[in-house]
Amino acid sequence: MRAMAITAYGGPDRLKLVELPIPTPGPDEVLIEITYTAVNPVDWKICAGQLKDRFPNVFPIIPGWDAAGTVKAVGTSVAKFSGGERVFAYCRKPTIQWGTYAEYVAMNAAHVALMPKNLSFAEAAAIPLTGLTAWQSLFDCACLDTGRTVLIHAGAGGVGGMAVAFAHHVGAKVYATASRANHDYVRARGATAVIDYTAEDFVAALKRLEPEGVDVVFDTVGDDVYRASFAAVKRGGLVVSIRNQPDEALNAKHGVRSGYVFVEPDGEELGAIAYLLEQGAIKPPAIEEMRLEDAAAALEKNRARHMRGKIVLRIR
Ligand SMILES: NC(=O)c1ccc[n+]([C@@H]2O[C@H](COP(=O)([O-])OP(=O)(O)OC[C@H]3O[C@@H](n4cnc5c(N)ncnc54)[C@H](OP(=O)(O)O)[C@@H]3O)[C@@H](O)[C@H]2O)c1
Repeated sequence: MRAMAITAYGGPDRLKLVELPIPTPGPDEVLIEITYTAVNPVDWKICAGQLKDRFPNVFPIIPGWDAAGTVKAVGTSVAKFSGGERVFAYCRKPTIQWGTYAEYVAMNAAHVALMPKNLSFAEAAAIPLTGLTAWQSLFDCACLDTGRTVLIHAGAGGVGGMAVAFAHHVGAKVYATASRANHDYVRARGATAVIDYTAEDFVAALKRLEPEGVDVVFDTVGDDVYRASFAAVKRGGLVVSIRNQPDEALNAKHGVRSGYVFVEPDGEELGAIAYLLEQGAIKPPAIEEMRLEDAAAALEKNRARHMRGKIVLRIR
């Protein structure tokens, strides 16, 4: 099969088009013929070797954790699929080696869900990693619900864009940060007000709208933004981050709680997200299509950190 892979750590320019054998699905796995994959920041982090202490890395490494495609073969213990289904999945495995910048991936069937029928493969590929991250942060960690207030950082980004849509859908009052050019996009996804973080201090801007702060801040940016976020939360509220670990000193100083989420593959939750998309309750993000062979350029563009929505890579 064709795949984009690296044989040594470095920048995205290390990615080369290679021929590798089609994986054989194990008893619990399905073989997905991938039509589109998506680009996430973790992909250039993997190329740079930044996850090598967290998961075993085996060269050649095919990056990529999102897939939308068709089930081509099923393992002997799989009852959920029989072949031919249009599916999507967050394809993280215990070892970093066989990612989704490739024509095929073998994936645990429990992590795979039927694609929303109203979405193209390109639109569906943009959903799994970002959608599950937003879902697990807002609902599994923060228990966000109707009538609560939430500030979502990077509302135009991959994770932030899904989070704005989910939070609006459950009836929360949604504030988000984005640069000015993305404000209409973020409002259209469900934000009540969007703060231009490039023009003013986001805590001061939020406090004009919510003088006591919000119930929850969802931090997708990290570091200085993470630390400043504690002043934007009500006493007793929560900062949930996908970038920084909980900070006990900041919790004590501001009288709040903090949590960290590392997204887990979950076919059931992905199925719930698919249902909301199929019902039209939430919309897929904006997508920009590129070819698999242009993965290096796509990663460079993502690394600049100003994407609106997602880049998806066309594989077939
Ligand atoms: N822990 C986990 O499980 C997990 C899961 C997924 C992602 N992540 C990490 O979370 C981060 C975000 O991922 P992503 O896929 O959402 O990234 P992304 O799509 O590349 O984010 C791009 C967005 O970030 C915005 N942005 C940049 N600097 C900002 C700032 N200072 N304040 C507010 N917005 C800012 C940009 O907005 P403008 O263009 O409007 O400036 C752009 O829309 C990455 O570091 C990623 O590795 C972690």
